[in-house]
Amino acid sequence: MAGAEIFDNAEIKAMADVIERKMIHRYGSHAMRNGQYRVDEFEEKAAAMTGAKYALGVSNGTAALIVALKGIGIKPGDEIITTPFTFIATIEAIVACDAIPILGDIDETLSLDAASVEKLITLKTKAIMPVHMFGVAADMDKFAELGKKYGIPIIEDACEVVGGTYKERYLGTLGTCGTWSFDPNKTLTVGEGGIILTDDEALYRKMEYYHDHGHVHSKEHDRGADAKSGLGVNYRLSEIQGALGLVALDKMPMALGRLRATKKKILDAVAETGITPRPMNDGEGDTATHVIFLLPTAEAAKKFAAATKEAGSPCGIIAENTWHYAKHWQALEDMGEQEFFGTKTPSYALETMAKSDAILSRAVMFGLNIIMDDASVEKIITAIKAGAKAAL
Ligand SMILES: Cc1ncc(COP(=O)(O)O)c(C=O)c1O
Repeated sequence: MAGAEIFDNAEIKAMADVIERKMIHRYGSHAMRNGQYRVDEFEEKAAAMTGAKYALGVSNGTAALIVALKGIGIKPGDEIITTPFTFIATIEAIVACDAIPILGDIDETLSLDAASVEKLITLKTKAIMPVHMFGVAADMDKFAELGKKYGIPIIEDACEVVGGTYKERYLGTLGTCGTWSFDPNKTLTVGEGGIILTDDEALYRKMEYYHDHGHVHSKEHDRGADAKSGLGVNYRLSEIQGALGLVALDKMPMALGRLRATKKKILDAVAETGITPRPMNDGEGDTATHVIFLLPTAEAAKKFAAATKEAGSPCGIIAENTWHYAKHWQALEDMGEQEFFGTKTPSYALETMAKSDAILSRAVMFGLNIIMDDASVEKIITAIKAGAKAAL
């Protein structure tokens, strides 16, 4: 879950090299670089790994979402449909563009339910943002179909699933564009960082310019001579993060291999208990950062949680997770039913999330780390067995 636990000499060497060369910034100083551009290399490596035509490094996953929305041309008052089960950054990115978050329902995979999204599409809908949560893909075939049917861009928030796949394609490469995060709680970390993946050259160029004050980048002249394509912001990635990102991508297969082996060990050990793992749209591509079960009722989930606590390895009930569930965000609720750039926002009160709430109240979760000692894994197994006995 937090890639810093596998930092070693490779990260130290990568950072030291950037500092020794005194080239910690991404753009400009071309004559002093000896052709070395770490953010460029990080982007090229992410694109080569995923098969995306373009990858843009930005300062974090939230910035990646904002830049993606700006890139596709989101305007004040536009409606963007997304999920109530996400990190608040998804909503903040929409609001940062003065657009209106419209929340669909989730299904038992805990992903945005495409059928619920279709019912919410209006003439003001300008993007759909499925979020791949806790390691696992949303149903991207259905979102691709919706995008095509209504001519609406699909922005995948793949911030939590770096390295995960859907039908053997990397998450983040299936929509119009997709975002990755490398913050300290993601598959792998560079401290803070993000990547946007896309196959659309025109969109890539808009995002590239917007993320750096509208500058039209060139290695042919000094940075001060860059032309300007329009207004933008500063969401640049530094060469230190780029250098760390190169190491992170090298370590990705090892990190995912470890997470997946740990998750398999846990699920195999509790297979006989009768407890139901979270259904997945594509289990092969799971980044295995979380072990999640769906209990038959909210009451059963509470009994399960109490027993796991007693056993010394407490799970979380996802409905109680204040970081990842919109019902806990007062600031969002306060935005409900207000005039907003000529459009009225919907209600964001709990009753509008009843379907998602019923599912998240039954969902219990354990987080995994890349490095976990056998004792911690055994403790989770023991806790799940105790939970299942108490709840089923
Ligand atoms: C689903 C989701 N989207 C976006 C973000 C934002 O990423 P960052 O922390 O890099 O800004 C996060 C981070 O927690 C996330 O979980």
